[in-house]
Amino acid sequence: MSQAPEPGEIRIGLGWDVHRLAPGRPLILGGVPVPSEHGLDGHSDADVLAHAITDAILGAAALGDIGMHFPDTDPRWKGADSLVFLRRARQLAGERGYRLVNVDSTVILERPKLKDFRQAIRQRLAETLGLDLDRVSVKFKTAEKVGPVGEGLSAEAQAIVTLKAG
Ligand code: C5P
Ligand code: MG
Repeated sequence: MSQAPEPGEIRIGLGWDVHRLAPGRPLILGGVPVPSEHGLDGHSDADVLAHAITDAILGAAALGDIGMHFPDTDPRWKGADSLVFLRRARQLAGERGYRLVNVDSTVILERPKLKDFRQAIRQRLAETLGLDLDRVSVKFKTAEKVGPVGEGLSAEAQAIVTLKAG
């Protein structure tokens, strides 16, 4: 049975995702297209950052995970704009009585360099989640050429969010 949260209750959620890199696919991170010779492969637009943040929101509210709400076998989500998942996760958490406080995240990708896109990505995420810009953090790391991310086979994203009741 679900219980109403205590007033002022703080909830923390963790999200992680990985997608393969493929030539000719778009590289979309936090809803922002980044010019690149390779992009992320997947059923939706494969926005690895949006997916990690979606899971973090769902996790904080104990609402399952992204695949439960948006199965990758559902043709509705083929090529989908992953910001739809983010908006829905925010809405579901809101229906449980939680509002977002902040988002912190890291994208791990060997190349291209992403730092010039940080502001655009933060802005897009902030708009989508109804947050002030200073409550949305996006960081970038390489994998130092080690492992599948370091070898340029994939990209990962990690996210953590805080929700507050009331
Ligand atoms: O992975 P590393 O510590 O070498 O990253 C150094 C900096 O390079 C990061 O703090 C980030 O600002 C930037 N970076 C980037 N795009 C990437 C990876 C890292 O802009 N794909
Ligand atoms: Mg994904």
